Amino acid sequence: MSDDRTVTLAPSGLEMPLLGFGTWQVTGRKGYEAIRAALEAGYRHLDTATMYGNEGEVGRAIRDSGVAREDIFITTKLPPDRAGREHATLTASLRALGVDAVDLWLIHWPPSRGGHTAVWREFRALRDRGLTRAIGVSNFSVAQLDDVIADTGEAPAVNQIPWSPWEYSASTVDEHHARGVVLEGYSPFKRSDLRHNVLTTIATAHGVTPAQVVLRWHIEHGIVVIPKSVTAERIRANLDVFSFALSKEDVAHIDNLSAR
Ligand SMILES: NC(=O)c1ccc[n+]([C@@H]2O[C@H](COP(=O)([O-])OP(=O)(O)OC[C@H]3O[C@@H](n4cnc5c(N)ncnc54)[C@H](OP(=O)(O)O)[C@@H]3O)[C@@H](O)[C@H]2O)c1
Repeated sequence: MSDDRTVTLAPSGLEMPLLGFGTWQVTGRKGYEAIRAALEAGYRHLDTATMYGNEGEVGRAIRDSGVAREDIFITTKLPPDRAGREHATLTASLRALGVDAVDLWLIHWPPSRGGHTAVWREFRALRDRGLTRAIGVSNFSVAQLDDVIADTGEAPAVNQIPWSPWEYSASTVDEHHARGVVLEGYSPFKRSDLRHNVLTTIATAHGVTPAQVVLRWHIEHGIVVIPKSVTAERIRANLDVFSFALSKEDVAHIDNLSAR
């Protein structure tokens, strides 16, 4: 079991909370209220993107929450069709969020016509100018991680990819670990069968819900997880995964769901 709530990013040494709040489709008044509820519940890591069209709501919720900016880890992402316009896109994100710098900026997807190494060079330059504290990627294959490492000598701090018990792969975990890249999973629930008997049995044994078991399973593996909800009760419950732990056997049973 791991009691750590953060993971350290290379090379910055920045601490990233393992559990964050996903904000895809969290927009408008309802979205703003959900982000306020998340900050109120205690989330200190928010995941947004230029493409989500909600950086304004995220920024306003942060300011209105009264939580200090430096206590919140903010991730945003560059849409691949903005390759070549990295600086303008990041400064637009900072303006919308109302912050001087984000904590983590990701290439949302590798550009379809290649060129991910050129985008990565721009990311490094803008990080060096202080507009983001850390840089990473999303939806990159291990081969694409190796392309950018070979080109610049610097590995992305994070790769944000689809992840759930049904996607679990020990080799993918090892490949990221070997390169010093933190694995961040997305869509933990959409990619899970929360009624599966492996999850419901473990949940009953611990007196928690299958959704909480899925989130705690990420934490046990040291994998960052960013559940989304616009429902107040779920927002709170999804953060409440630090008062119980899964046994090694529980984790192995859940890992095995990917083999079915
Ligand atoms: N990098 C990428 O390409 C990429 C792609 C997809 C997602 N993401 C990021 O990952 C975040 C999470 O992924 P996601 O939004 O796709 O999906 P998700 O977090 O797996 O699932 C969200 C869905 O699960 C429901 N839900 C939330 N808590 C629940 C609970 N305790 N029990 C049962 N159902 C629950 C939500 O409903 P309600 O909201 O109605 O409560 C919503 O329908 C996104 O918000 C985004 O920040 C990144």
